[in-house]
Amino acid sequence: MTDHFPPQNATRGSLACVGLGMTLGSHLTPLARSHIERADVVFAALAHGAAEMWLQRMHPDVRSLQPYYGEGKSRQKTYREWVDLMMAEVRAGKRVCGVFYGHPGIFAWSPRNAIERARAEGYAAHMEPGISAEDCLYADLGIDPGRFGCQHFEASQLLFYERRLEPTGYLVLWQVALVGDWSLTRFETGPAYRQVLVDVLSADYPLDHEIIVYRAATLPIERPRVRRLRLGELPDITLTGEDTVVLPPAAPLKPNLAVRQRLQSLDKASAFA
Ligand SMILES: C[S@@+](CC[C@H](N)C(=O)[O-])C[C@H]1O[C@@H](n2cnc3c(N)ncnc32)[C@H](O)[C@@H]1O
Repeated sequence: MTDHFPPQNATRGSLACVGLGMTLGSHLTPLARSHIERADVVFAALAHGAAEMWLQRMHPDVRSLQPYYGEGKSRQKTYREWVDLMMAEVRAGKRVCGVFYGHPGIFAWSPRNAIERARAEGYAAHMEPGISAEDCLYADLGIDPGRFGCQHFEASQLLFYERRLEPTGYLVLWQVALVGDWSLTRFETGPAYRQVLVDVLSADYPLDHEIIVYRAATLPIERPRVRRLRLGELPDITLTGEDTVVLPPAAPLKPNLAVRQRLQSLDKASAFA
């Protein structure tokens, strides 16, 4: 427990990275709120200015991490700066809370890295989960990852590396808007890059396979946006940095007859034992 809640009178710094969830006002857990309220200083990397204003009502010292992004600046540099900013306050003996939209451990480099760094330097550090885009996707699209299985990939990884896709399960692709960006400086790539992605996917999926472009609601007045289109149309649509792409299964599950037979033999053997 001490790892989660350093004592109130601690003079030694500590770090908690918490998730705010996706939808403003309704996804924050009581535990995450408690980390925010008890912090000396709060850093915020949120998807929406309104979410930042909401956070400011919970704490008098909320410092936005958004200004560290820059046109033509590597996101990796920005994320390292975020870690440095949080760690400087931890080392100064402050109780620091980093607030990230969604889940702070899902497709998010800085919270994990800051926690590792803090622990390596002997400070208490904790990650508090939040409701991620993935959680919203399962609810809004009615997908149960347990039914057919579900692979998740950062879209560029499918282009930079040889990965094995499993088209009898779901495939969820993150950060498709900036697919193929080696430089980590761009916030979108575009149709020609998405065409490369489609070409790679077409080894396992027909071009007329129906896919889903999904965006969870981030404001309470919004509805989730669900667009259904053919895989071959993906390069032609407008895509935002918030869109996640889902490929439903393209083939039925294939029974593994050899393993089934082996299990039947085991069943028989245990029945006679
Ligand atoms: C850097 S990741 C951050 C994910 C976040 N930590 C989470 O827990 O959901 C950014 C990617 O998350 C997905 N994403 C972000 N906002 C979204 C939204 N409102 N709806 C659906 N997916 C979203 C997109 O794939 C986007 O490219």
